[in-house]
Amino acid sequence: MDMVAGMAGGEGRPGEATPPDPLARLRAATAARRAAGLGRVLRPRTPDHDGLIDLASNDYLGLARDERLAEAAVRAAREWGTGSTGSRLVTGTTTLHADLEDRLRAFTGAARALVFSSGYLANLAAVATLGAGGLVVSDAGNHASIIDGCRLSRARVAVTPHRDVDAVEKALADRSEEHALVVTDAVFSVDGDLAPLRELHEAAVRHGALLLVDEAHSLGVTGERGQGAVHAAGLAGYPSVVITVTLSKALGAQGGAVLGAPEVVETLVDTGRPFIFDTGLAPSSAAAALAALDIVNAHPDLPGQARRHAAALARACADRGLAATDPAAAVVPVVLGPPEAALRAAAVFAEHGVRAGCFRPPSVPQGRSCLRLTARANLGPDDLAVIGRALTAVAEMKVNV
Ligand SMILES: Cc1ncc(COP(=O)(O)O)c(C=O)c1O
Repeated sequence: MDMVAGMAGGEGRPGEATPPDPLARLRAATAARRAAGLGRVLRPRTPDHDGLIDLASNDYLGLARDERLAEAAVRAAREWGTGSTGSRLVTGTTTLHADLEDRLRAFTGAARALVFSSGYLANLAAVATLGAGGLVVSDAGNHASIIDGCRLSRARVAVTPHRDVDAVEKALADRSEEHALVVTDAVFSVDGDLAPLRELHEAAVRHGALLLVDEAHSLGVTGERGQGAVHAAGLAGYPSVVITVTLSKALGAQGGAVLGAPEVVETLVDTGRPFIFDTGLAPSSAAAALAALDIVNAHPDLPGQARRHAAALARACADRGLAATDPAAAVVPVVLGPPEAALRAAAVFAEHGVRAGCFRPPSVPQGRSCLRLTARANLGPDDLAVIGRALTAVAEMKVNV
């Protein structure tokens, strides 16, 4: 009998002492998380978000279900197949990947681009590879994929307080390592605020460091035509600036990319393990992202619409006494404190016909559980009226806690 299968069923060999149950500690930890309001549940949704207004996804430009993207994806799947068939260095680089890299490069103003199968892997590769053997200076609010890249780099990591340029400057000045990488989200994924990019760039240049900026929440939303926060800060194409993007949010597709100087891309191609040992992005996703870039170029008003709707959501929160900061892009957090309050507020939203993101530790620090509202370019006036009623109910819920 298969030993593992036998033990998993609680059936040790007759006459032998019962071995410890290897799943017991997992059950206990899960029970403890649930008791603390930190259990997580996967809820399969329908294509129309179960009939709710979507204020939870990262589909900032409303492109994820756009016919033009779907058509492009279908055509690519028919022509190229449903998978890229290999790692980028073997058979996983198609002419679609090369086109996409060229278009992303041109859109963001970077010298070169390298496409990955996700934004997570783009960050993992960029931080781990560019940080290895040196110092990585990372903002305390950075996304998990950056934190994991720091771990993988085995570099010394200095985590600096959120948006604290002086702390970055000090970490760079005090280092003994020869090279250093400063890494920050452009727009922070939960707080929705903007990193001080120009000041960080000045600090990085002064100390001979690279600046890596994750544009996951700013590409397609920030800047006049959605070219991202680095472009808006006038830093596009600077050799010391590296950016990472995801194709999975404003561009409505799937995948990611690292953009920067030729030396950066060449280093990642030669040595970036998350690049080398991963199957290339599916052709249909590359084609969908290309179609999204066509749309963004043809409709330069889309990013501004998403930003205006975010500002309207923030105003609606403030009008009801709910803490809201000025959103830098489309992310509008409503901080409620304990995880139970965030869960209750998400339920109130659902009762009003709106789906909001509900963020609890470890996705946010203790005491900062929140609803995360994400604006979309294609929200209508009726949607905003319904959302207003949901926010009123959450404000009343807060008063009554
Ligand atoms: C700031 C940030 N960076 C990177 C990622 C990862 O991108 P992807 O979802 O394409 O893997 C995300 C998405 O969740 C994110 O919010």
